[in-house]
Amino acid sequence: MKILGSCILFVLIFLLLIVIAAEQIPSTVYNSVLFSGHKKDVSPEAASNKSNSATHRTAEATEDIQEGENCEPSWNRACSEEVLRIARRPETTEWLRSIRRRIHENPELAFEEIQTSLLIRKELDLMGISYRYPLAKTGVRACIGTGGPPFVAIRADMDALPIQEAVECEYKSKVAGKMHACGHDAHVAMLMGAAKILKTREHLLKGTVVLIFQPAEEAGNGAKRMIQDGALEDVEAIFAVHVSHQHPTAIIGSRPGPLLAGCGFFRAVIRGKMALAGNPHHSIDPVLAGSAAVISLQGIVSRESNPLDSQVVSVTSFNGGNNLDMIPDTVVLGGTFRAFSNTSFYQLLERIEQVISNLHCGHYTLN
Ligand SMILES: *[C@@H]1O[C@H](CO)[C@@H](O)[C@H](O)[C@H]1NC(C)=O
Ligand SMILES: *[C@@H]1O[C@H](CO)[C@@H](O)[C@H](O)[C@H]1NC(C)=O
Ligand SMILES: [Zn+2]
Repeated sequence: MKILGSCILFVLIFLLLIVIAAEQIPSTVYNSVLFSGHKKDVSPEAASNKSNSATHRTAEATEDIQEGENCEPSWNRACSEEVLRIARRPETTEWLRSIRRRIHENPELAFEEIQTSLLIRKELDLMGISYRYPLAKTGVRACIGTGGPPFVAIRADMDALPIQEAVECEYKSKVAGKMHACGHDAHVAMLMGAAKILKTREHLLKGTVVLIFQPAEEAGNGAKRMIQDGALEDVEAIFAVHVSHQHPTAIIGSRPGPLLAGCGFFRAVIRGKMALAGNPHHSIDPVLAGSAAVISLQGIVSRESNPLDSQVVSVTSFNGGNNLDMIPDTVVLGGTFRAFSNTSFYQLLERIEQVISNLHCGHYTLN
């Protein structure tokens, strides 16, 4: 049995507000989410009243708070407003929109994010942000701050999906059969926005923020490769965010504990002995063995796992034989497994291996 790859990135959700500002959403809403002590505009009416918010935004834009003013020694309302002021600058929003749309127009699949990575590095160069490249082929690791501890990372993924874009818009994908269907174009833009804000306020940082642009989230192994190439060196904490169509615009969802499951894939080749279907006693039937494996795999989650610790094992592929009159010599089956904790993930992996390799349906040879 071969484990094809596993991706585990148990991340906290960090709030980045830049793209929201770029898309002209009343960002006053964010004050109530980000900074719960901040009472301005937290009433639902105010938050939902666009003309109100627009008025408020204009008023705030004219307040010219100096970088860093009133921002020592701890985070306060002035800091929030200053961050939002940088985010709302028309040139910032225009720049971010352009980054997001350029990436959206030129989607690149896992580990092929050449132009996306180039665009990121060009913009980092323009901002005077130093970085390491390449990690995991196309990945970038940039640093802002003192260069010393503590090191805190923010991560965005860069890859698109092999899906044809059906929606017509001026920045529609120019590549047939590929599109940013998972929103990673937005993630890159958001991290560039965070880079801009952090660079503007770099003199106030008392540590280092590491910006991680990661390839191949969809392939499931980009994170692993980035870590192998040193993306998380010295890093004490890492934050990431994923856009969601399940929440209304301007709403951020999170919860304590893990939010996304780690996922792994498995494939098993079951070898038997071919025979004419009329002589089953001359065969070693891999179809029967494979079927038994599928049933046994179902038992792992339903009979062995704690019901309160969500896990999934699904056989998603089962192939063998193409002649209705022959018992084939081989069946290939495979699937995926998911878990929320590292412990459960590796327990599942171990049990899947055991269940498949310990099949004893007659005298089958299993690989
Ligand atoms: C929304 O704002 C407009 C203009 O400021 C105001 O006339 C209206 O009463 C407000 N509505 C709510 C529900 O706050
Ligand atoms: C997860 O568990 C595996 C196997 O027990 C272990 O090798 C690995 O170091 C663990 N990783 C983390 C992040 O705890
Ligand atoms: Zn995604």
